[in-house]
Amino acid sequence: MSFMNGGGNPQLNRHGELNHLLTIEGLPREVLERILDTAAPFTEVAEREVKKVPLLRGKSVFNLFFENSTRTRTTFEIAAKRLSADVINLNINTSSASKGETLLDTADNLAAMQADMFVVRHASSGAPYLIAQHLRATGRDHIHVVNAGDGRHAHPTQGLLDMYTVRHYKKDFTQLTVAIVGDVLHSRVARSQIHALTTLGVPEVRVIGPKTLLPTGVERLGVRVFNDMREGLRGVDVVMMLRLQNERMQGALLPSTQEYFKSYGLTPEKLALAKPDAIVMHPGPMNRGVEIDSAVADGGQAVILPQVTFGIAVRMAVMAMLAGN
Ligand code: CP
Repeated sequence: MSFMNGGGNPQLNRHGELNHLLTIEGLPREVLERILDTAAPFTEVAEREVKKVPLLRGKSVFNLFFENSTRTRTTFEIAAKRLSADVINLNINTSSASKGETLLDTADNLAAMQADMFVVRHASSGAPYLIAQHLRATGRDHIHVVNAGDGRHAHPTQGLLDMYTVRHYKKDFTQLTVAIVGDVLHSRVARSQIHALTTLGVPEVRVIGPKTLLPTGVERLGVRVFNDMREGLRGVDVVMMLRLQNERMQGALLPSTQEYFKSYGLTPEKLALAKPDAIVMHPGPMNRGVEIDSAVADGGQAVILPQVTFGIAVRMAVMAMLAGN
């Protein structure tokens, strides 16, 4: 039986509590709401009004980033430290992974150093599942695994911090129209956002992009598809922009980045089609002049930097729920 497909929800223990965070898909609405509610008081720690809390004192969090990151790796480290955990950042370039050690051998060796949590980013979809499955099979399910982005599959804490941001500015998910714009095909962020938005009761989730960058059958996830950005942005409350994931593209899916910007770049003129109080989000890293104009990225409707700060609180909440004393 596959860890990813069978046996109930492998992220939850028999009491329905989170044991690992691997994906938002299949998580009950109550669990998502509990994470967002738990994050709320941690915003005071994220904003440094309160320095530290002792919830992870004596616990060891290992950051295993096999792929580059600025926001996720740093905010996980800050979050763990503000929970009073010991944080170990494995430098993959200088680790024995570069000598051919397998992912599971690396995990076994770090587990032998009394790890309590692995935060894993990997270019291969399913890598965090593989580690969690291995830990379960070897009786070490007390070590928690958090997916920090795997291939094009999932980026659950990004999806959750995005939901926290939406709730902060818009309060009620059940009254919203949300547009996700760009390279949905290669985006783990988009998948996590779609699962979170539909689970939390957003009545209309739109995906906007050229046919070549939208997954076949994406409607089955409960979204409306638009190939015309102007049409898709009309009347929306939230615009979630996506980066072109060039590192995951195979072959030429676009005529040029200039053409892409003309059709799918978010400019002030296109944003004016959304509701006047619409917010603009982006998970980062941004490519200015490709998917977003600087006038929008730095404008009054952008909440891109608050997203990053909320990410600390949300990651604190996830780690505290998984391993808190
Ligand atoms: N949003 C996001 O995952 O950014 P990083 O790649 O910098 O972590």
